[in-house]
Amino acid sequence: MELNEIYQGDMFDLIKKVGGNSVDLIVCDGPYGVTTNEWDKVTNQSNSKTGIQEFNLNLIKIFSRVLKPGGALYLFGKDDCIDFIDYRPYLYLNRKIIWYQPSRLAQGRLNYTNNYDLICYFSKGKAKTFNLEDIRVPQLVELEHRLRCEKVPSVTNGQYSKTKFNDDGKNPGDVWGDIKQLTYKSKELISRELLNTIQKPEKLIERIVKANSNEGDFVLDPFSGVGTTFVVCKKLNRNFIGFELNPDFVAITKERVEKAQFSKEYSLFV
Ligand SMILES: C[S@@+](CC[C@H](N)C(=O)[O-])C[C@H]1O[C@@H](n2cnc3c(N)ncnc32)[C@H](O)[C@@H]1O
Repeated sequence: MELNEIYQGDMFDLIKKVGGNSVDLIVCDGPYGVTTNEWDKVTNQSNSKTGIQEFNLNLIKIFSRVLKPGGALYLFGKDDCIDFIDYRPYLYLNRKIIWYQPSRLAQGRLNYTNNYDLICYFSKGKAKTFNLEDIRVPQLVELEHRLRCEKVPSVTNGQYSKTKFNDDGKNPGDVWGDIKQLTYKSKELISRELLNTIQKPEKLIERIVKANSNEGDFVLDPFSGVGTTFVVCKKLNRNFIGFELNPDFVAITKERVEKAQFSKEYSLFV
């Protein structure tokens, strides 16, 4: 397979052509099994008969073959997307990240409305890359409170005695409320039909690609949609391969990638 290509077809066939132990990072924004879209019907697209969890377990098995030791997988889904499955023989779960979307319409009447997606951050053994310096976010505490915290005994004399607040910002943590889902008004939205179920914000993919890959690394997006991961990879000088069933999306991806430019300064976190 050629690097920096998007292949049209079924990822379950195409991924067989990817070499074992070859991928640094997989961004997997595939079916959630919650909409009526044909591509979101999980039982049609794997040997699974039991829904999204078994579907995801099958993906985890497949991905563990192609990931390098220490390579990372970010698997997107709803809150229950890896419940009651045993992924531990294949990959290590570093963190469940909550992608919090406070603006999601809260109209549930019989239960609390769900207003987050889950992003499961796995690695094949211990993660080989975690570029914290590239993904720090501003400290949102007032200066006075911050200084007071720096003086508390556990910070000045405790186990981590020299701990200081870092002027370059803090670890983004595992609740990501600073990245908004695209709206009708977002400049990067390709078309209204792609809102919510398809197109992800570049900012979300930027954090993931920066955290778990370096320039020249190989990033795979097996359900690449309209190519957001590919666009970010080009801007950050990562190599990429993508798979996508829908030929129209493949064409859109090619157009988007054509326009994207590498820049040392690229960041949407300003
Ligand atoms: C949620 S979208 C991905 C969106 C992408 N992250 C973006 O920002 O453009 C999931 C995509 O997976 C594709 N898809 C679903 N099943 C597939 C399969 N078996 N092989 C390849 N692509 C598939 C769908 O056509 C859809 O475009």
